[in-house]
Amino acid sequence: MDYRALITSEDNKTFINSIEKKDITDLPDNDTLIKVKYSSLNYKDALSASGNKGVTRKYPHTPGIDAAGIIEETSGNKFKSGDEVIVTGYDMGMNTFGGFGEYIKVPQEWIVKKPDNLSLSESMAFGTAGLTAGLCLRKLLAHGLKPEDGDVFVSGVTGGVGIIALMLFKKLGFNVTAITGKLDQEEFLKNLGANQVIDRNSLDLDLISPLQKTYIFWRN
Ligand SMILES: NC(=O)c1ccc[n+]([C@@H]2O[C@H](COP(=O)([O-])OP(=O)(O)OC[C@H]3O[C@@H](n4cnc5c(N)ncnc54)[C@H](OP(=O)(O)O)[C@@H]3O)[C@@H](O)[C@H]2O)c1
Repeated sequence: MDYRALITSEDNKTFINSIEKKDITDLPDNDTLIKVKYSSLNYKDALSASGNKGVTRKYPHTPGIDAAGIIEETSGNKFKSGDEVIVTGYDMGMNTFGGFGEYIKVPQEWIVKKPDNLSLSESMAFGTAGLTAGLCLRKLLAHGLKPEDGDVFVSGVTGGVGIIALMLFKKLGFNVTAITGKLDQEEFLKNLGANQVIDRNSLDLDLISPLQKTYIFWRN
């Protein structure tokens, strides 16, 4: 069966993107075939589509680190044909053909059922950036953060993660200060729920050092 996909190919160290016709048998040998309805555009997709070998080692390749769609067929036991599902992260779009094709074939462990209160298109409008913002908030709330504790500051607030973080904090009743490099977006940010907007360039971020170096912890 034919399908169409964005294919990034390498030609003498130059990377070219084109829509090509492929065959289902070109997809990796995983247990579940999904008809893709929507995908979102992430920075990592741009890296993959422009030949960043830290993201994608082998070309030709189809980028797209997330996808929402319908199970076409599966040899696994978690889903059945017709289920509406979401896939985000793992190796998809990196070294496994990703969501910028009409079909993906992935292990069932990478798939989650779409929640009933979200459409397939809404799930990809929030996208991996929205999921990231949601996971960050969940972690902060699990650490006991409450609106009474004071203002929360959201940096990078006009970005994909920042915008959703701002809206989620607002919905949960927090007073939000938005830190941005784009003061011309003040009205937009206030409409989304920012109580105050601060110019990133007025802060000495080296002095404040809001983020520590990243450390990786192993837990057995
Ligand atoms: N998107 C995802 O799925 C995802 C997943 C995991 C982790 N992340 C990480 O989350 C962060 C944000 O990702 P994103 O997708 O929201 O990126 P994005 O859409 O490109 O937004 C990044 C924002 O950062 C701000 N910014 C730009 N230059 C800056 C600088 N020199 N100093 C401080 N802020 C600066 C800008 O907002 P202002 O002009 O408003 O300040 C910009 O809109 C990144 O570190 C990314 O690696 C993203």
